[in-house]
Amino acid sequence: MMKIGNRQSAISNSLFKRAQRLIPGGVNSPVRAFKSVGGNPVYMERGGGEYLFDVDENKYIDFCGSWGPLILGHARHEVVEAVKKAAKDGMSFGACNQREVEMAELLNGCVPYLEMMRMVSSGTEAVMTALRLARGFTGRNKILKFDGCYHGHADYLLVSAGSGLLTGGISSSAGVLPSAAADILVAHYNDTSAVKKIFEKHGKEIAAVIVEPVAGNMGLVKPEAGFLETLRELSAGYASLLIFDEVITGFRLAPTTYGNIRGITPDLTTLGKIVGGGMPIGVVGGKAEIMKKLAPLGAVYQAGTLSGNPVALAAGIETLKILKKENPYPRLAKFAKKIADAVNSKSEKKSQKVHCVNEGGMFTIFFTDKKPLRNSDDIKCCDTAKFAEFFRKMLKKGYYLPPSQFETAFISAAHTEKSIEKFSKNF
Ligand SMILES: Cc1ncc(COP(=O)(O)O)c(C=O)c1O
Repeated sequence: MMKIGNRQSAISNSLFKRAQRLIPGGVNSPVRAFKSVGGNPVYMERGGGEYLFDVDENKYIDFCGSWGPLILGHARHEVVEAVKKAAKDGMSFGACNQREVEMAELLNGCVPYLEMMRMVSSGTEAVMTALRLARGFTGRNKILKFDGCYHGHADYLLVSAGSGLLTGGISSSAGVLPSAAADILVAHYNDTSAVKKIFEKHGKEIAAVIVEPVAGNMGLVKPEAGFLETLRELSAGYASLLIFDEVITGFRLAPTTYGNIRGITPDLTTLGKIVGGGMPIGVVGGKAEIMKKLAPLGAVYQAGTLSGNPVALAAGIETLKILKKENPYPRLAKFAKKIADAVNSKSEKKSQKVHCVNEGGMFTIFFTDKKPLRNSDDIKCCDTAKFAEFFRKMLKKGYYLPPSQFETAFISAAHTEKSIEKFSKNF
């Protein structure tokens, strides 16, 4: 019988030892390492609904959701069946397939401002393509980004980035040529006046402003009133493009993008995670006039052996159809609020330096009493040692959270009221 809590870890530990010999740090993505929380990473064997099961027969209620894609929980039956059916017909064609058209029509129906789009295999690829497109379209070089936002691991975007870089205290990666970073301008998230100054100085050189419209990679940080609107106005005023990186937020808060929810139309949008239903995917889309600059129509080159992969698209299409049909969003938001209310009222009663921020089915428990947390400078005041202690305690009790203070936890449609209540009580 799988146990919840008081976990064993002999098999995980031995796999980690073997992995470290051949895989740097034993992990295929640094955010999976437990470096900032202590202990060894857990090796997962399978997932089902709200649960993850590790190789040592421990059972966890999962609040990481593979870092966002698994909004329906693990191994949702209809998604698995769609993948099986697609795989039986061939894993990849390297040629056009019907699902590409279905996905494009589905996304265009949910987000009408995605007038045209291109499907790729990761969020990083989607962002790289969006930025090349922005530079190709405008004939300008500079990109404005925000500290604490993460947009994938392309060279020029690893400056002042969130996620694993923030967790590891890395301000910029080694191996990035100074020339690649030279055209990147960085402002504090939510700092409208800094953005105005940057535009006054460099406006005519800026190809694009890229932003996570709700930041999820320094923990959950919301855009303040007027921030995104100012980005829209300034970029339009200087003929720069506005790119909303919705790799996390796309289909996370409603069956559409955050830009569409807010009525702010970016020039380009990047998607990933949920639209692949747990399979590798990325999408870049937006105004047809800009998208038509992509090869083979235009001079901006982008390609991919596995782009528009039929199996990945089968998982994504089925996931989006279920999200549209079942609309789990109010329930996800209710559950995240329940956790936030429980954490915040306990913290107030006991005067603890901790609080929880929530938006839709996303939440972060920040170990600081500083409020509001507006940008990555604010976030750095969190007590990461206290977070690590909390993470380990919850892991032992059978809750799998993202192993860093600077990440967002996710609720899925498979979570039950009972689990949310138990988690809230256990906090
Ligand atoms: C906002 C955002 N953009 C881009 C990426 C990169 O996506 P991928 O890891 O699929 O390359 C991520 C990954 O977490 C992300 O959160």
